[in-house]
Amino acid sequence: MSPVQLEYLFAHALPSASTSGKTIVDVGSRLGAVLYGAYEYTKAAKIVGIEFSKYFVDVQQQIVSKYNLGDRIELVCNDVRQCKPILSTANVIILNNVFQFFAMSIVHKAIWQAIISSLQAGTILVTVPALHDQLLQAKVPIDVVGEGKLVEITPSLDALPPRFGAAHEELAVFHIYRVTKTLSSQ
Ligand SMILES: C[S@@+](CC[C@H](N)C(=O)[O-])C[C@H]1O[C@@H](n2cnc3c(N)ncnc32)[C@H](O)[C@@H]1O
Repeated sequence: MSPVQLEYLFAHALPSASTSGKTIVDVGSRLGAVLYGAYEYTKAAKIVGIEFSKYFVDVQQQIVSKYNLGDRIELVCNDVRQCKPILSTANVIILNNVFQFFAMSIVHKAIWQAIISSLQAGTILVTVPALHDQLLQAKVPIDVVGEGKLVEITPSLDALPPRFGAAHEELAVFHIYRVTKTLSSQ
């Protein structure tokens, strides 16, 4: 995620009430950009990165240690499918292009079923690309938005503060949802 996307997401698109004192989880945290952005722009109590590559977790750990970010950032080296307790206690879950390039399609469905079945009412989900497209691609037979289990709350880009003006295209990729009912996978 780029610097302007991080500022937009955490300082503008997500209301501060949804992050202050709360737990933000980034699924597939790679180099940790989302974690550092959340640290800088929010008052989240806990920011968790889930990443199954030990190489990338080690890189994140070095940065967290070097810049003393360990008071709020926690790193979990695991497959997200094994992290249901973390997902089910998160207030905000971010999935930025996580599985498009990295998971074989055969495991896509299992990953999404694990995520969907962990979501609790009230949780905010941020996805790139749109959730509907990802579930379709993963062949998960559930239209969570269409069935009213999630509502899309992505803010309009019409009234962006001037500092974001030139980045309109980059910011239009985000889809933000609020879970309205605890879900079960199918
Ligand atoms: C495109 S990167 C995410 C980028 C990062 N979140 C950002 O916005 O800068 C996707 C990451 O997801 C990780 N990943 C893919 N499948 C995963 C899984 N099942 N569990 C945990 N991490 C996974 C990959 O190792 C990779 O580092």
